[in-house]
Amino acid sequence: MRQMSGHVVSGPGGGYTRPSRQINVVLRSQELAHASSSSSAPALEPASMPSAAPLPAADHYADIQKDLEPMIGMDNVKALVYEVYALLYVSRMRTEAGLSGGSQVYHMIFKGNPGTGKTTIARIVAKLFQKMGVLSKGHLIEVERADLVGEYIGHTAQKTRDLVRKAMGGVLFVDEAYSLARGGEKDFGKEAIDTLVKAMEDHRNQFVLILAGYPLEIEQFLMTNPGLPSRFPIQVEFPDYSVEQLLQIGESMAKERDYVMLPQTVFKLRQLLMQEKQNEMFSFSNARFVRNTIEKAIRHQAVRLIGQYTNAVPGRQELMTIRPEDIKG
Ligand SMILES: Nc1ncnc2c1ncn2[C@@H]1O[C@H](COP(=O)(O)OP(=O)(O)OP(=O)(O)O)[C@@H](O)[C@H]1O
Ligand SMILES: [Mg+2]
Repeated sequence: MRQMSGHVVSGPGGGYTRPSRQINVVLRSQELAHASSSSSAPALEPASMPSAAPLPAADHYADIQKDLEPMIGMDNVKALVYEVYALLYVSRMRTEAGLSGGSQVYHMIFKGNPGTGKTTIARIVAKLFQKMGVLSKGHLIEVERADLVGEYIGHTAQKTRDLVRKAMGGVLFVDEAYSLARGGEKDFGKEAIDTLVKAMEDHRNQFVLILAGYPLEIEQFLMTNPGLPSRFPIQVEFPDYSVEQLLQIGESMAKERDYVMLPQTVFKLRQLLMQEKQNEMFSFSNARFVRNTIEKAIRHQAVRLIGQYTNAVPGRQELMTIRPEDIKG
């Protein structure tokens, strides 16, 4: 099994002829659901496919594109989402042509520092799978160690199974997945991993598991269990943002909320970002830091305006403007 970061790699077993039941699962889309009355029905024969029913490829992606486009940078991530889309789309056309549908393992690893957009992309990926008929609901259940790990023997397996159940038809996103392997042999984290691995086997195609965490820790995590890497054929790297990208993110966040930053404000934000990126080398929270700073600036602006305009109403422009003094570290 070869691992490639940022690219789709064929999952274990990709290429062999699949039992018909699994092919049916891939075919489960809104249009085709009517064609097959139950999920255990034999594979649809190519002849029975409504040949006039086109696959609305562009439509499906246009919606995803709309979510991805405003994201600053992330070229590799955007390319990967497109690859996954292309893979799903072509595999559907291939199945309809009576060919093997190809890889059906879509579990993923997201490697990146805090605030690099992992949760945002996981949500978009969930939506993509739903649109392409792979997942029935396309919702995202985001969990961390405390949600999975229990206090006594058996408790963890039960908690984990309950969450898997909630994630059925959608994506189970495990943040800081590394922490599950942290405690060693006696820790219940291991029980959570084992339960997740079992659920991946038992409920193939019924949910997608995304494990996320810091790049180094995720690497270590994958090494704790030799069976793990091959179960996650798709690995995506979320690089840290440059200061210029962070500024663009900040400007778009301000704009989204109907605010503008003066050139001096942007200058001050740039200083703050450079300083913060340097000081917090290992814990700098990228776009999340920008969001917090902008939200704080909006609060400071409100306090400043109320103080400044005791007997008057500030003009529209003034209500929109974030001044350098509103930006505080
Ligand atoms: N490229 C981007 N362009 C615009 N906004 C972004 C970008 N990346 C992240 N954001 C915004 O930054 C915030 C943090 O992103 P998100 O929660 O997806 O990051 P994360 O990697 O999951 O962080 P954490 O590891 O802290 O959970 C969100 O408000 C998100 O919309
Ligand atoms: Mg997150």
